[in-house]
Amino acid sequence: MRRPFVAGNWKMNGSRARARVLVAGVCEGARELPEVDVGLCPPFVYVTDAGEVIGDAPVRLGGQTCAGVEYGAFTGEVSAYMLADVGCSFVLVGHSERRMLYGEDDAEVAEKAGFALAAGLSPVVCVGETLAEREAEQTEATVERQLDAVMDRLDRDALARIVIAYEPVWAIGTGRTATPAQANAVHAFLRERVAAREPEVAAGVRILYGGSVKPDNAAALFAEPEVDGGLIGGASLDVGQFLDICRAAV
Ligand code: PGA
Repeated sequence: MRRPFVAGNWKMNGSRARARVLVAGVCEGARELPEVDVGLCPPFVYVTDAGEVIGDAPVRLGGQTCAGVEYGAFTGEVSAYMLADVGCSFVLVGHSERRMLYGEDDAEVAEKAGFALAAGLSPVVCVGETLAEREAEQTEATVERQLDAVMDRLDRDALARIVIAYEPVWAIGTGRTATPAQANAVHAFLRERVAAREPEVAAGVRILYGGSVKPDNAAALFAEPEVDGGLIGGASLDVGQFLDICRAAV
């Protein structure tokens, strides 16, 4: 039985004051949810504040991305080591907004995952097809290519530390969500791909669904056997909604 993981991705939203209020609210709710790993990915500049507010509450801190290099002359970048240094235990890599808006390709995502692991973080490897790819029946080919690029670089121990997030691009921020059956089918496919490399690791790898998860659709998605939690964008900016989604994962 895999432990559910629900992570909030705030993207570039909020303010320092709002971040502190949001984190405090999530911490309060998370204390009542020992069965779920609850995580938050604030914008970089609020990570330290969020960590302070979290204190000893059972909420994991994550980064929204990290550099695909170790350190040095990379103006504007934040390394995986820096995220670990300020209390993060995971980091998103390959979110579709990073791929589409900032031109991150599979090779760069794989580098980021590698540095995240080296820094002691769990990379949450985001994969997902565009609407055009789904309509062209390229969903499996797309997510396989994206996942393979990361898995090619990992040995068995490293593979056991990753989390996968399936986020169909057409469902992110659109109010359109994959049906539970559609999500489950892709998750099952992804798990098979992991199993093809490391059969003993595959059963334990958590695969989260993301894309317009809301309190009213979360329970049906999380009820699917291959769906181990969610990556929550818009709804994570509202404490009540986010906690309702976390509760749906129990
Ligand atoms: P959304 O975003 O929940 O607002 O669709 C999900 C994500 O981008 O991780």
